[in-house]
Amino acid sequence: MSFPTVRMRRLRRREPLRRLARETRLSRDDLVLPLFVVEGSGVRQPVASMPGVERLSVDLVGEECKRVADLGIPAVILFGIPAAKDARGSGADDPNGVVQRAVAAVRRAAPELCVITDVCLCEYTDHGHCGLLEGEDVANDPSLERLAAAALSHARAGADVVAPSDMMDGRVAAIRRALDDAGFAHVPILAYAAKYASAFYGPFREAAESAPAFGDRRGYQMDPPNRREALREMELDLAEGADVLMVKPALPYLDVLAEARRRFDVPLAAYHVSGEYAMLMAAAANGWLDGPRAMMETLVAIKRAGADFILTYAAREIAARLAP
Ligand code: PBG
Repeated sequence: MSFPTVRMRRLRRREPLRRLARETRLSRDDLVLPLFVVEGSGVRQPVASMPGVERLSVDLVGEECKRVADLGIPAVILFGIPAAKDARGSGADDPNGVVQRAVAAVRRAAPELCVITDVCLCEYTDHGHCGLLEGEDVANDPSLERLAAAALSHARAGADVVAPSDMMDGRVAAIRRALDDAGFAHVPILAYAAKYASAFYGPFREAAESAPAFGDRRGYQMDPPNRREALREMELDLAEGADVLMVKPALPYLDVLAEARRRFDVPLAAYHVSGEYAMLMAAAANGWLDGPRAMMETLVAIKRAGADFILTYAAREIAARLAP
């Protein structure tokens, strides 16, 4: 059957009908808010390239997370920015480090919230790379022990989930082993499995002070033109014990997400990254598009492509709009 018997517009006439026919729904349950935590007290520093995003000191992050939980957001992911950095990223696994204290503060203030931690060395190394250096090379195998130690320190501080974002080979297995050996077999690993060497991380590096001092991350993060390789990365992380797989960035890689959805039966996360957020906010600030509508459409598209949940800097505003 076809036109004029079939008329696709019939179900689009009014909002209640559209609601019934809607295939994908964004809910507050889908949102994870990234937070940047710094040393000091009473610190609230806006990030210039990310309107609405602030870096908070450890003493403020608890009460902020209470508000986040009250908005119905189930989880936050914490990034620590230490006061001092060195070659081996000592702050990354310091039991008294910025992110470890932040985890404890959030657990106390908002026990209903799921606390995820980003596991990487780039915020903690003076050279800004995600692993240890040998000359100008980021050395894979020696970095694994540092990453596993960081993840373990997060679990000890009370993290619910650890999320390695470094892209070293074998890090998921190394972290799984370290957690299991220390009595944290119950802590899941959310692997940044298909993480691309993307221009869209620019604003994040301002927020986290983690821009590499030389070179770039193309020697360990994925080459943007590759899709099959992303599926191999995801298969390997699953085999090493990952519980959830992530695709990052989100919007430029929806094809990868959709293919991963077809291929894998584990939960999938997508990271709507700093540059994706910044460009929407910038266009909205110029009056060039309707910011909240564009943000909502973007996040729904990421879900439609196959994400179970989305890491987004807009989580608070979106949760407020989605309130029941
Ligand atoms: C750390 C890390 C980065 C992001 C998340 N974890 C930066 C990078 O790899 O350079 C980017 C997140 C964003 O842009 O919002 N390795």
